[in-house]
Amino acid sequence: MAFIELHDVTRTFVSRNGRTSVAVKDFSLDLARGEFFCLLGPSGCGKTTILSLLAGFDHPTEGEILLDGAPVRNPSRDRGVVFQGDDSLYPWLNAIENVEFGLRMRGIAKKERRERALRYLDLVGLKGQHEKFPGELSGGMKQRIQIARALANEPKMLLMDEPFGALDAQTRNIMQHELRKIWSATKTSIVFITHDLDEAILLATRVGVMTAGPGGTLKGVISIDLEGERVRTDPTYTKYYATAYEMIREEVARASGRMAGEAA
Ligand SMILES: Nc1ncnc2c1ncn2[C@@H]1O[C@H](COP(=O)(O)OP(=O)(O)OP(=O)(O)O)[C@@H](O)[C@H]1O
Ligand SMILES: [Mg+2]
Repeated sequence: MAFIELHDVTRTFVSRNGRTSVAVKDFSLDLARGEFFCLLGPSGCGKTTILSLLAGFDHPTEGEILLDGAPVRNPSRDRGVVFQGDDSLYPWLNAIENVEFGLRMRGIAKKERRERALRYLDLVGLKGQHEKFPGELSGGMKQRIQIARALANEPKMLLMDEPFGALDAQTRNIMQHELRKIWSATKTSIVFITHDLDEAILLATRVGVMTAGPGGTLKGVISIDLEGERVRTDPTYTKYYATAYEMIREEVARASGRMAGEAA
């Protein structure tokens, strides 16, 4: 039994005028514990839909999602979620209080929750910034606090929707590096959505490519067997890049064709 199983997951939406649209169709995937899975695909193919279903914020119209063999029905602190540009920090709490918040709600004693929050703030590279309030921090720092907050709950799984999409190139590089380190240290299972092929190959143990929407599904999965630090100039890295590029190029072309068709 895999850690996470998605069996023929389909999610359809019914709009206010009664039209049915298929966001995701027959999506099947097994994830092992401790994987770093990156999901790629053109805009509108259903990536966020898949993440919401995994988080338990939403439910499949058909098919099922199992975690350790049990259906995912609700959100749970077993699954930490970090969304792009989702500035969900409390502005009246400082960095450490924001990270501690969930632990406090769970009744974890002050000493323990403080220790945990400090550990994770250090892990995301925010040593010495604990007392600052969100308004005093850069976008990249706030994003790192949100990651620290998700990690402090020590979830079985981290679900991330383009978490670095809004960061500048330098911060993004640093965060990619930090996240790989955090993942190596904690072995938390990660599902990470990105538009950026390079980011996916730098981070993932496996990369999944989705077909163009509507009704996107999993087109294929590439295992990335690169030891240690990943270097873009490494010939093996380049080979993975080329393979994944070929898979996604077609889908992006299809998606833009459909959008152009819709606009016409
Ligand atoms: N709540 C909803 N109601 C109706 N349609 C929805 C809803 N959520 C998503 N959709 C539709 O489902 C499809 C997939 O959306 P989704 O947000 O999962 O795409 P995505 O792959 O995350 O795209 P992007 O890369 O642009 O973020 C889209 O056609 C979208 O319009
Ligand atoms: Mg999305």
